[in-house]
Amino acid sequence: MEEALQQLKGDALADLDVLKNADDIEQFRIKYFGRKSPFSGLMRELGKVAKDDRPRLGQLANSIKKDLQDLFDEKRRSLVAAHSGDGDGVDLSLPGRTQANGKLHPVTQIMEEVCGIFEGLGFTVAEGPDIETDFYNFEALNIPPHHPARDMHDTFYVDDSILLRTHTSPMQARVMETQEPPLKVIAPGKVYRCDSDITHTPMFHQVEGFLVDKKVSFADLKGVLSVFIAKMFDDSIPIRFRPSFFPFTEPSAEVDIGCVMCGSKGCRVCKQTGWLEILGAGMIDPEVFKKVNYDPDVYSGFAFGLGIERIAMLKYGINDIRLYYENDLRFLRQF
Ligand code: FA5
Repeated sequence: MEEALQQLKGDALADLDVLKNADDIEQFRIKYFGRKSPFSGLMRELGKVAKDDRPRLGQLANSIKKDLQDLFDEKRRSLVAAHSGDGDGVDLSLPGRTQANGKLHPVTQIMEEVCGIFEGLGFTVAEGPDIETDFYNFEALNIPPHHPARDMHDTFYVDDSILLRTHTSPMQARVMETQEPPLKVIAPGKVYRCDSDITHTPMFHQVEGFLVDKKVSFADLKGVLSVFIAKMFDDSIPIRFRPSFFPFTEPSAEVDIGCVMCGSKGCRVCKQTGWLEILGAGMIDPEVFKKVNYDPDVYSGFAFGLGIERIAMLKYGINDIRLYYENDLRFLRQF
């Protein structure tokens, strides 16, 4: 009985959908609300079902009939208005179409939050080009032609000496060659690499940060990054500084935070390590200072570059970075 009622509802809704004119309306009315309608038949059947089931099924039949009647009335009103001649076929009684408000993309939201934290710590923002020269992307950063470190990036070249920047580090040289220390700068932006899997996309966002002054130490770097991570996540999130190598910093480190996806137990996202890398950092190499005419005996500094999408993954518990760029509104509307 219940199945028959649901089937009837499905059939009626499908028929309702295709009504176009007064004839269709009348036929629909006779078919579903007339004396010989399947509803009347089912109501007669109701007398034969088990006594205990009767009230529930009776209620279901009545509610389906009422819903259908409401939908039918609404459809009839809109068809009548559309064909009545007033309003040129426009039903003036229909409610207006609401315009959904747009929202910031989750990656933009995280980018703004990250920049806000560093601005709060006294860093100023500098921006530079996505299409970069080989010089700023590699050479100024102590990565000369044929240096094996160039293999670290799968670069999109525009021509032999122009490319899509592979990181935001070129902004170190661009800012330093035009300004004198002390400097405390962040450089947010898009970067590009030939890379795609659950933790890599070919276009992603980084925020570069660098501080140059007299007597800057690794402890200052550790302090700034620890404050940033505590503010971005919370004080209890595990952090580790892992020795690493970048040609433009010495010593260098990568910073991992505990995988929030699995509570550091090990999963697909953290490749069973319990950790997810979010940034690279280190003390600016004296060779970089020499290229911008800073005296490395007088000045020292630190730099770091963090991946915004990785932070957004951790913050929102997203286990595949590519979801951010599939433009699926069901995904994007959650943020
Ligand atoms: C760099 O890009 C260095 N320029 C960072 C740096 C700056 C080091 C200043 C020292 C001083 P790396 O290749 O590790 O480093 O990338 C930095 C971060 O970007 C990574 O930790 C990761 O969070 C993110 N990242 C790297 N590749 C991708 C990718 N394909 N998709 C999304 N995020 C990525």
